[in-house]
Amino acid sequence: MEEELQPFDMTTFSNTLDCATALDQQDPLRSYRDAFLHPVENNRERTYFLGNSLGLQPKNTMEAIQHVLEQWQLDGVESFFKGNDNWLAYHDKLTGPLAVITGAQPHEITVMNQLTVNIHLMMVSFYQPKGERKKILMESKAFPSDQYAVASFVKHMGLDPDEVIVEINPDQEGIPPTNEQVIDAIHKHGEEIALVFLSGVNYYTGQLFDLSSIALAAKKVGALVGFDLAHAVGNISMNLHDWDIDFACWCSYKYLNAGPGAIAGAFIHEKHHQENINRLEGWWGVKLNERFLMKKNFISSGTATAWQLSTSPMLLFACLHASLNIIEKAGWSNMLNKQQKMIAWTDFLLTTISSNVFKRITPHQRGCQISLQFPQNGKEVYNRLFEKGFMIDWREPDVIRFAPVPLYNSFTEIWQFFNALREITNELPLSN
Ligand SMILES: Cc1ncc(COP(=O)(O)O)c(C=O)c1O
Repeated sequence: MEEELQPFDMTTFSNTLDCATALDQQDPLRSYRDAFLHPVENNRERTYFLGNSLGLQPKNTMEAIQHVLEQWQLDGVESFFKGNDNWLAYHDKLTGPLAVITGAQPHEITVMNQLTVNIHLMMVSFYQPKGERKKILMESKAFPSDQYAVASFVKHMGLDPDEVIVEINPDQEGIPPTNEQVIDAIHKHGEEIALVFLSGVNYYTGQLFDLSSIALAAKKVGALVGFDLAHAVGNISMNLHDWDIDFACWCSYKYLNAGPGAIAGAFIHEKHHQENINRLEGWWGVKLNERFLMKKNFISSGTATAWQLSTSPMLLFACLHASLNIIEKAGWSNMLNKQQKMIAWTDFLLTTISSNVFKRITPHQRGCQISLQFPQNGKEVYNRLFEKGFMIDWREPDVIRFAPVPLYNSFTEIWQFFNALREITNELPLSN
């Protein structure tokens, strides 16, 4: 049963273990922690706050892989067609749950390749420079792979990245632009913009962009709009279809827990499915009942799957399917509900630590992730937290990122983390 999204009363929080324990006791998702394998060192379970990097392994992943291996063993290539769990039908088992998570129609989603590959494929279809309309707007401090993909694609088109790519507010010491700055940049460059391409949640600061207002502003100037949702999918609530976003792509190894190098996903709005659109094509994009007729001409599937190129990797599908099963059982709205509470709990505990020790660079609008910038001794703080059993993330030169997630983290773990952080920062000469 899914719970309604509920407001909660922050004034009931106190910086005590009792309060953390009570929050855990009220948590309808607390049993899902056991659906995952938690890293262990010297017989001690570590506290994993790295959902923003590589989500934990669900316990059912092994079984899902094993099942595909058995199908392969017993039926060989016949497994593509045999039984209710035939491999050709597998893709559709993934798009339903992903549609719920992204606010899309299932036929607007395709599961294929990996993220950077899909960014290139989307650029082929959605970067269409014409006349004065050539610019691509990106956030400063976009993930490097996005910058490389877009710049190399622009060069491939015979254009100069320095002329065509507009980084919004590049000189803010590594901090991405605010939503307002993005909208201002869209107004400023107006009809020169061919494509607005941003992340949904910035990888560095965890800042959540307002996808809907950015999409609206882009439409108003006649530009197409796409998002890299690597840090957004499985993390924030979205309505890609209703917000009229042209395309989006994501990886599945972070908040979707589908394993290292997991199969990625893409959303292509249905209004583009029937268009005579520029697209790189392969036989897996052909309509299913025509695919094996081996005809010369490409007959599009007529959905987002038309962008698929190659034979589906069933072992990777199995990993994603296993983890989506858990999300379906837990209920997406229940996860969002718990996440709101975890955000409030984290924000509250942050206020209990002296603010001259670090700077919070994550704005209020965010998903799970918090990024803290340390003017001094940041690496030492990170090392000491690691020694105490907390798995978090260090970004050179001075940022600690951590991301407690609703499925496998508890309110008590967050409380323990802040206690350790307080202890360590009291010991070290951090303030100036
Ligand atoms: C925002 C963002 N974009 C792109 C990538 C690159 O993804 P991949 O290596 O799956 O292509 C990552 C990887 O973490 C990312 O965080």
